[in-house]
Amino acid sequence: MKRSVIDILDLSTEEIEELIATAQDIIERPAGYARACAGKKLATLFFEPSTRTRLSFEAAMYELGGNVLSVTDAATSSASKGESVADTARTVSCYADIIAMRHPKEGAALVAANAASIPVINAGDGGHCHPTQTMADLLTIRREKGAFSGLTIGLCGDLKFGRTVHSLINAMARYPDNRFVLISPEELKLPSYVKKDVLRERGIPYDQTTDLEAALPRLDVLYMTRVQRERFFNEEDYLRLKDSYILDAAKLRAAKKDLCVMHPLPRVNEIAADVDADPRACYFKQVLNGKYMRMALIMKLLKEAAQ
Ligand code: NCD
Repeated sequence: MKRSVIDILDLSTEEIEELIATAQDIIERPAGYARACAGKKLATLFFEPSTRTRLSFEAAMYELGGNVLSVTDAATSSASKGESVADTARTVSCYADIIAMRHPKEGAALVAANAASIPVINAGDGGHCHPTQTMADLLTIRREKGAFSGLTIGLCGDLKFGRTVHSLINAMARYPDNRFVLISPEELKLPSYVKKDVLRERGIPYDQTTDLEAALPRLDVLYMTRVQRERFFNEEDYLRLKDSYILDAAKLRAAKKDLCVMHPLPRVNEIAADVDADPRACYFKQVLNGKYMRMALIMKLLKEAAQ
């Protein structure tokens, strides 16, 4: 049966484990998967800029022996003529077997999923969710920290508009004994719906602070984020806030020896280049892990759709 993934919560914790196990098997024996999606087509519909996510989906499909159709720019698609997301999704269902879609509007992926006759994967809908980035983040945390529980997780930067942050909190809140440290300027605090519905509702401990350096020594994971310029109403606010936090090698001296420094990328100034050689820097590992998790997800959804 056709199933879409719009939110990380569309996948149960058992399914996350299953996808991680598949991704780990792909890492160990990639040749075993080289024909897994032969004859199948992935359509990537990206109505917002992307390097990693789109190429990661496309590389994932090619490594599974499948093919790719791609819309890389809203301006050159019929969206620019006023076509609705629902009509685009119906149309693409006639050409492809599965869709990965990124769109600037919150809820667009859900609209597409309701209209499409094939599975839709949300590759980011406005400031809302980004479930496959979270899958990349989860595999990274599992490989680096060995577990999803008992962690103090710092999230730093644009917690208001950062969709990767919202999805990661939803995912990590399902595991026991985690605590969150929310580090942001006043204006970019985590939306109250996430705080209330996810953290307070489940009694998960969290602190809010504006001070990265003070929080750093107690963190097991530090998830840095870019200030999301494209979601600001005015450029002045963006310019004032964009360099609120810059992690560098000097600041990292105060951190735990086994801290895992993450970033969904692209980075602007949030992490100085002098951190890149530090063994605690995990952001390029996230990129690679994202491809393996997307391979696992594409296979799972295509298999379910065929049943
Ligand atoms: C993120 C996104 O698009 O939300 N990028 C990504 O997919 N890796 C983060 C960002 O753009 O800042």
